[in-house]
Amino acid sequence: MIIQTLAVLAITVNSLELKCYFLNFQYSFFDEHYTCKSHGFSATANNRVVKSVSGNHLLRLTNQNVQQIYIRGQVCEVIPRGFSKFFPNITSLSMPHTSLQYLFNDDLSDLKNLRSIDFAYSKFMKVDSNFFAQSRRLEIISFRKCHELKMFGHAVFKPLKNLRILQLTELKCINEEALNNKTAIQQLVERVKINCQDPDEEQEDATEEAIESTTQDDVTRTFELRIKLLETELIKSQDTIKTLTRKLRVCEASAKNCEC
Ligand SMILES: *[C@@H]1O[C@H](CO)[C@@H](O)[C@H](O)[C@H]1NC(C)=O
Ligand SMILES: *[C@@H]1O[C@H](CO)[C@@H](O)[C@H](O)[C@H]1NC(C)=O
Repeated sequence: MIIQTLAVLAITVNSLELKCYFLNFQYSFFDEHYTCKSHGFSATANNRVVKSVSGNHLLRLTNQNVQQIYIRGQVCEVIPRGFSKFFPNITSLSMPHTSLQYLFNDDLSDLKNLRSIDFAYSKFMKVDSNFFAQSRRLEIISFRKCHELKMFGHAVFKPLKNLRILQLTELKCINEEALNNKTAIQQLVERVKINCQDPDEEQEDATEEAIESTTQDDVTRTFELRIKLLETELIKSQDTIKTLTRKLRVCEASAKNCEC
């Protein structure tokens, strides 16, 4: 009985199927794309890898032509994996209203051509500094109405030189968007750094960012920053030594007392 139950569980765990309606579809700020619009789908942390895809293609089109995955209102605790095995040309991933709870830094890493993402109405609280490290071609990002979202890694948008639409409306830490305006994007990114800081990450990122820079001035600044960090460490260590010395003296004194 137990073995049967386990076998059934194992089968369900390994059988995540993406059922598609294939159609040409234009969503939000995105271009019109040949799209897999999913139905009856859900992904959990324990069952997130797509193992099969089904649905009827439009005439003369195949999985190769699919450029967009659109999952709306189906519960995905995490971003599913394995899309690229079936759809090698995905440029657009839209998952609005899917109650996304957790992001992992390699979530997008196999979608090499990704240009646009939409995770509107998600439930996660933080986007890490490295989340877009593998997605340098992204042009459009929407986190609109992610009401719980309150922290962004300090350097999170830094790799994205082509970013032209950034929608951060009705977040916990900010309520703004920048559309097709480089200056506005840069200003918004700066405001995110201020309003949506992750207090645990701040110092580490400052160092990282400084080390990344290449001009002479930046190199100088990097070393100055390192020196400051080392000085801080030194002061902390000196304090520790002082405290330990004091304790040692107390110990020695009490040891002498005992000897008497
Ligand atoms: C899909 O990608 C392959 C390999 O990158 C490319 O040869 C092909 O033309 C693309 N197909 C479409 C429809 O974009
Ligand atoms: C772009 O944004 C900047 C800063 O918000 C603003 O001053 C400027 O007028 C905008 N440019 C255009 C063409 O809208």
